Amino acid sequence: MAKIKQISAREILNAKGEPTIETTVILSDGAVGIASVPSGTSVGKYEAVDLKDNDPKRFNGNGVLNAIGSIHKVLTPLLTGLEASNQQQVDKKMIELDATPNKSKIGANAILSVSIAVAKASARSAVLPLFLYLREFVKKDDAPLKIPTPCFNIINGGVHGGGSIDFQEFLIIPATSKKYSESLQLGTNVYFALKKAIESNNLSSLIGYEGGFSPKLSSNQDALLLIKQALEAANLRVGFDMFLGLDAAANNFYNENKYMIRDKSTTLTSKDLIMFYKMVNEQFHLLYLEDGLAEDDWEGWKELYATMSQQTLIVGDDLVATNPFRLSEAISKSALSGVIIKPNQIGTILESLAVCEMAKQAGLKVVVSHRSGETNDDFIADFAVAVSADYVKFGAPVRGERVAKYNRLLSIESQLKSL
Ligand code: PGA
Ligand code: ZN
Repeated sequence: MAKIKQISAREILNAKGEPTIETTVILSDGAVGIASVPSGTSVGKYEAVDLKDNDPKRFNGNGVLNAIGSIHKVLTPLLTGLEASNQQQVDKKMIELDATPNKSKIGANAILSVSIAVAKASARSAVLPLFLYLREFVKKDDAPLKIPTPCFNIINGGVHGGGSIDFQEFLIIPATSKKYSESLQLGTNVYFALKKAIESNNLSSLIGYEGGFSPKLSSNQDALLLIKQALEAANLRVGFDMFLGLDAAANNFYNENKYMIRDKSTTLTSKDLIMFYKMVNEQFHLLYLEDGLAEDDWEGWKELYATMSQQTLIVGDDLVATNPFRLSEAISKSALSGVIIKPNQIGTILESLAVCEMAKQAGLKVVVSHRSGETNDDFIADFAVAVSADYVKFGAPVRGERVAKYNRLLSIESQLKSL
């Protein structure tokens, strides 16, 4: 049994060149855990607070020295001497100390970095791989552990792609029957086939925040057509070997109850936009649709679910923000069939696990996701396996901060074989 002996934090950069927190926890038996936390770009209003200094003299106000100060001055005395394997107690103490509904006092970035570093150190101390250690905190079922199906974001639009197209993420999703390592290989095949397709259309193959291409196109449908072309070039059958998905991140093109996308010359109501998604499904087999509508458009979400959930997974990201109250509202309104889990939207491992559990109880699919401003920390790969997530979304199969997670899943896949 090891106790928390030392906690220290420092400012590092994330993949967007913005400051974030890296926390190191050392236990009484010498076990060490190091964790760094990501930041979002299209941040929903129901997320916990990613606390920044707002000091314009440093990093455009994005410094995190105040949050780090809280780790040293407030969280360290609170947690030192506690049993590290008691994650519930560690996380609960931080939640109670912050005592705000959105962790705005201490900062979800500060709290989560400590929460994860404690878990990593404790897993080391128990000599367990992190996914097996975290599994201990998950309500048991008899299903064998498996690698979730990866959703590769191969075209970046919206605020991730410099506004080149409206929808934020164009995803390819291999058939769930495929082995993870095979899916990863197919993902890269399509990625490079897409690069060729983009270049053969005299478009730029430069990339956006999550490693997907970000060509300037005149419509969202053109992006889907390019992907279809790439799938054909890679000899994959759409709707059989590989499926299409979208994270529209619709908050970003919603204004005064109307949506605006460049495929249409006039503004759209929720109903009009749902008709557009229906057409996309008929033409491209849309398996997955995340944030198809804005986070407060409940009536629209209910209609989207009623209209499309038979064929398409209706997933809430900004809608739910990994928040148990928002998830419970979405479930009671029959607004979705899947939910995004991003630990930094809520701020502790304990609460992230509880939201996964609530989703599963309601029969929803669980999608564990990275953020656009990632670090090389691969915690979410282990977390996704531990909670038996259905899908993971870690960006394109390129760039260090994205492949850190995909590669960790490769390692877990080979470890699962020997269990
Ligand atoms: P974000 O985007 O990290 O910029 O919020 C990811 C997503 O919307 O899924
Ligand atoms: Zn999203």
